[in-house]
Amino acid sequence: MDRLVDAAFAHASRHAEGAVADYIPALASADPALFGLSVVGVDGEAHEAGDTGSRFSIQSISKAFVYALLCDAVGHEEALAVVGVNNTGLAFNSVVAIELNDGHPMNPMVNAGALATTALLPASDAADRWHLIQRGLSLFAGRDLALDEEVYRSEAATNQRNGAIAQLMASYGRITEDPAEVVDVYTRQCSLLVDAHDLAVMGATLADGGVNPVRGVRVVAADVARDTLAVMAASGLYENSGEWLFEVGLPGKSGVSGGLLTVAPGKAGIAAYAPRLDGVGNSVRGQIATAYLSRVLGLNVFVSTAYIPTA
Ligand code: DON
Repeated sequence: MDRLVDAAFAHASRHAEGAVADYIPALASADPALFGLSVVGVDGEAHEAGDTGSRFSIQSISKAFVYALLCDAVGHEEALAVVGVNNTGLAFNSVVAIELNDGHPMNPMVNAGALATTALLPASDAADRWHLIQRGLSLFAGRDLALDEEVYRSEAATNQRNGAIAQLMASYGRITEDPAEVVDVYTRQCSLLVDAHDLAVMGATLADGGVNPVRGVRVVAADVARDTLAVMAASGLYENSGEWLFEVGLPGKSGVSGGLLTVAPGKAGIAAYAPRLDGVGNSVRGQIATAYLSRVLGLNVFVSTAYIPTA
């Protein structure tokens, strides 16, 4: 495993295309050369290469885990009915997607669905909502995750678009909490600091049916882990989710700071951090390294025969 992770890392390191996200001003200062790759198995063992201790804001990858917390709290039927599970085929911050679907957010991996997910999490007030999310994501990671104050403030000062999305869904009655408070908690959840190792542990927890394999602690029910992975498979890499499933055959979730988390159900979490993104917003090196590992380890969930490396 260590040899294959090193080979995936070296293979992806040759690629320097793509650009660091800058629509959130604080993200623009990320070092584009950083690259970390971590695989954590359901046995809790880690296999890693590169900058796996470099911290970055989790951004949209939080969406998968907050959704898992929602499913755990309200159940399969309710999560399906109120958030939805279908791909929009449109950008993650699309307003058109909301309008085309009668104010329905469609799925929890786009901003509209993530805002609805955060709003629907049963909580007494905004502080309690934030506490539940910070605690829940920390349980997935197996350590206390802290807020990146600079990224939080930078995004809070510039996320008028998320404010508009929350207001629009409130106008359709899809969000009944105060939209500004929901956006604030969502912005905080996106600003939680993780490294590639943390993300791989979080993914291994989903791979392990909701049990954090490093800590030996159940975080969510097994059917919740299953449902979360299904949603990641359908919509985790934005409008390129179909291509990702076609090439890699595994559920994944990317974020604009350059994180990419992939889950091999029953086997492992695979996390990459490399801030250069393609045109859709997915980490370039993260995709290349993960596709390599999926191929050489035979992880694609659709294959019927193991891949036999020829060299
Ligand atoms: O809401 C935003 O724009 C960011 N906090 C997160 C965006 C992201 O990572 C990609 N979204 N799916």
